Amino acid sequence: MATEPMNASELRGRLQALRGEATARLADAGDEAAVEALRTALLGRSGSLTALLRALGRIDPADRPAIGALANEVRTALDGAIAARLESLRATDRSARLETERLDMTAPGRPRRVGHLHPLMTVERDLREIFHAFGFEVFEGPEIEDDWWNFEALNIPPDHPSRDLWDTLYVAEPGSREAGALRPADDGTILRTHTSPVQIRAMKALSPPIRAIMPGRCFRYEAVDASHNFEFFQVEGLVVDHDTSLADLKGMLTEYARAIYGPETPTRFRPGYYPFTEPSVAFDVACLVCGGPGCPACGRTGWITILGAGMVHPVVLRSGGLDPDEYQGYAFGMGLDRMTLLRYGIPDLRLLMGADLRFLEQFPEGR
Ligand code: PHE
Repeated sequence: MATEPMNASELRGRLQALRGEATARLADAGDEAAVEALRTALLGRSGSLTALLRALGRIDPADRPAIGALANEVRTALDGAIAARLESLRATDRSARLETERLDMTAPGRPRRVGHLHPLMTVERDLREIFHAFGFEVFEGPEIEDDWWNFEALNIPPDHPSRDLWDTLYVAEPGSREAGALRPADDGTILRTHTSPVQIRAMKALSPPIRAIMPGRCFRYEAVDASHNFEFFQVEGLVVDHDTSLADLKGMLTEYARAIYGPETPTRFRPGYYPFTEPSVAFDVACLVCGGPGCPACGRTGWITILGAGMVHPVVLRSGGLDPDEYQGYAFGMGLDRMTLLRYGIPDLRLLMGADLRFLEQFPEGR
């Protein structure tokens, strides 16, 4: 750019030439970045138009108004041309995108796969609903417990023979694998063998009157076959209040059996044994397969045991921080897996844990 003094006509010529040249170059600019580069080259601090505007100060003052007006006109023209070029580039861009990203609104949608609950969870959900109607809340505890919660708090002292009822899966002591001998954790960490430890947690967390069900996964050291698994589900129930009696337990469980198996289903209570309830009962319903006369499903007895229950043992109330002279309660525990087999006529427990969609998709009830 020339820096020597210019006269008015030279400056006018330069301004007009710049307008022509810039307009042509803008028309050639192929994308937004090229337009922006031109904007800087023309109008930036050291742009060509900026330089010419500076030269305005060096011409004869008499000529300045006319040339100044021309310079403004050129500036406005360039601004306009830049904006117009940007707009047309963007428009082309848009139509190019519309062309490639065209949406065919008439195309049929791709069907979305809708899953459903696992049959176990469908049954659990129904139980939650039934017990909800009876005023029970849902309370959950951990699957990994220790000896105290799973046994001692429930009135099952160490080395007590009743521990054989719950073949336990122990959690290994950290580091014992490297030492070559996998041994149970020193702190008594185990996988819970039933949901009963959650009774203690509920007593500690909630204050009476308590009405809670406690569903969850349990683990036992079992030889796996069609009716045993090392991993299964239980739903525990707990009611604690003043003056709770065995009559309340009987009434509640009888109503529950009616709700889930129909109002006409015969039921019976038998004596049972659990260290954490006293007295303990087993609760049977008339066989859901044969209805009474006896068949292979009920071992020809005509009855199917659906749960164990009893009045909460005073030792257990104390473990939960409650005074047995003030409070009594009843508890029950049922196996969700067997209920699910019975409900759907599934012959083998192992199918429930198989994660085989060909099996699971036959039970789409739990949407
Ligand atoms: N925890 C018992 C079991 O796993 C079931 C049970 C729960 C019995 C509550 C009585 C009261 O076999």
